[in-house]
Amino acid sequence: MRALVNVLFVSSEVAPFAKTGGLGDVAAALPRALAARGHDVRIVMPMYARVKAPDRTFETVIGEAVLVLGGTRIVFSVHTADLPGVPGGAKVPVYFVRCSGLYDRPGIYTSDHDEHLRFAVLSWASLVVCQRLGFRPDIVHANDWQTSLIPLLLRTMFTWDRLFAGTRTVLTIHNIGHQGTFGKNALGDAGLADAAHHFHQDQLREGRINFLLTGILYANAITTVSPTYAREVQTPEHGVGLDAFLRQRREVLFGILNGIDEGEWSPETDARIPQPYSAEDLAGKEVNKRALLEGAGLRYYPRVPVMGVVSRLAWQKGFDLCMSVLPRVLAKRQVQLVVLGTGEPQYEKFFSALAFQFPKQVAYKRGFSEPLAHLIEAGSDMFLMPSRYEPCGLNQMYSLRYGTPPIVHRTGGLADTVTPFDAGRRSGNGFVFDHFDESGLGYGVAHALATWGSGEGEDRERWRALQRNGMRARLGWDERVNAYEMVYRMIAPGR
Ligand code: ADP
Ligand code: GLC
Repeated sequence: MRALVNVLFVSSEVAPFAKTGGLGDVAAALPRALAARGHDVRIVMPMYARVKAPDRTFETVIGEAVLVLGGTRIVFSVHTADLPGVPGGAKVPVYFVRCSGLYDRPGIYTSDHDEHLRFAVLSWASLVVCQRLGFRPDIVHANDWQTSLIPLLLRTMFTWDRLFAGTRTVLTIHNIGHQGTFGKNALGDAGLADAAHHFHQDQLREGRINFLLTGILYANAITTVSPTYAREVQTPEHGVGLDAFLRQRREVLFGILNGIDEGEWSPETDARIPQPYSAEDLAGKEVNKRALLEGAGLRYYPRVPVMGVVSRLAWQKGFDLCMSVLPRVLAKRQVQLVVLGTGEPQYEKFFSALAFQFPKQVAYKRGFSEPLAHLIEAGSDMFLMPSRYEPCGLNQMYSLRYGTPPIVHRTGGLADTVTPFDAGRRSGNGFVFDHFDESGLGYGVAHALATWGSGEGEDRERWRALQRNGMRARLGWDERVNAYEMVYRMIAPGR
C-alpha cells in the first residue's frame, strides 16, 4: 500500500453537521487527524433536515442518482461542503446524500418502519459517490450498524467495478448495544435479496437480519474504541450476542482508544467559555464556575464543589444508580449538581424531580446544547459518569483536559483513561469504582468529596495536583492516528 491512502469515511453523524453523541465527534476528529497526515479523506453522511443551517452553503456534485433496491426506485442527489477545522490547510470534503423522503425528519435516528432502508441507502450511496466522482478508495471506513452493510456490498454488488479492486474495509464498533436488527424483509428492501446466502443463516431462518453482524463477518478489519472494550465485547457479558463472532475474528480485531479534538476541546483556547485557563493558571476556572452556576440559577460558593453531568440519558449511562445515591448525598453533603442531558423519560423525570427537591443545589437542563456542554466541563469541579458500560467515552477525557476530575465506573474506555487518585503519591487523575451498584457509586462520590475536603489550604493543593495530572495527560488524536494507519496498512492488498 502507498504510504498515503484514499479513505472513504462513512458515518451516520459527523459534528458539527449532525451529532447525538461521541460518534459525531469522532467522525469529524479522526478524518481531520488523517488528513493532517496527508491522506486523502472524504466523508459521506446523510443530508438530514438539521444539516441545512442557514449559513451553510453546499455545492452539488451529483444532480441525480438512482438506486433500485428491492423493486423500489430511490432517487438521491449529493452535495458537498468542507469539514471545518482541518489543520494545516488540508481539505476534507463531506458528501451529503440528499433523499428527502428518507432523511428530512426531525431527528437523526428514528423508530420509523424504514429505518433499515435509510441506512442501507446511505451504504449504497457512499459507493455510488466513489463511482460517480472517480474516487478510488484504498479504505472504506464504516462506523456502527448504520454503515455495516458496506463490506458485504463491496463483496457482492460492486465486485464488477474495477474501481474497488484494491479497496479494503474497516468497521469501527462504537457501541455494540445498537446492532440494527430487523425483520428479514429488510434484506429485500436493502437490495440484498440475491446475497441472502451471505447472511447468518440461523438468524435468517428465525426471520431477522443483523446489520452489525454482517459488518463483523465481512469487514477486512474491525476496530473498537478502547482496548478494554475490545476485550469486553468478546465476552458473553458485554458482547450482546455477538461475542462468539468477535472471538472468531480476534486476529483482525483491534481496540484503539479515541482521542479528543484539541481544536474543539481545550480550556486554553475554548471560545465557548467565558474565561480560558490552563494547568499553570487555574484561576480562570473559577470564573467559569461562577458563570455556570449563575446561568443555572444557583448560588456560587467557592468552597462547595460542583458536580457536572453531560450525557445522553440512556440505560448505558448508569443513571439508575444515581436515583438512590444522589438524593442521599445531596441531603447530607454540601455539594451542587448541574446536569445537561436528554433521553429516556425516566431519567429526565428523575433529574427534574431532583432539581425540584433540592432547588438550591441542583439544576437540570433538559436538551442538547454544545455551549452549555463546554461550560459544564469548564465550570464544574468534578464530573460524574457512572456508565454501566462505555466503549470509550469522550466526556471523561474532556473533563480531564478541563481540570474537572471524573468519577467513573471501571469499564471500557473509562478504565483505560481514568486512574484512581492516590493522595499519598499524588498519582492518578480521577475516581474509579469497581462495582456497578449503589455502594460502588457511593464510594466513588465519597472518595471525590473527601479528596475535595474543605476546598481550601492543603486540601486545595491536593486537589490542584489531581487536576493537573488530568490536564497534562496526552489525550489528542496525534497518538491514536498511528494505530489506524497500522490497521489500514495491515489489510492492504498483497499483505
Ligand atoms: P456517547 O457517544 O455514548 O453519547 P461520549 O462520551 O463518547 O458518549 O460522547 C458524548 C458526546 O455527546 C460528547 O461530545 C458530549 O459532550 C455530547 N453530548 C451528550 N449529550 C449532550 C447534550 N445534552 N448536550 C450537548 N452535548 C451532549
Ligand atoms: C459511542 C460510545 C462511546 C464512544 C463513542 C465514540 O457512542 O457509547 O463510549 O466514546 O461512541 O466512539
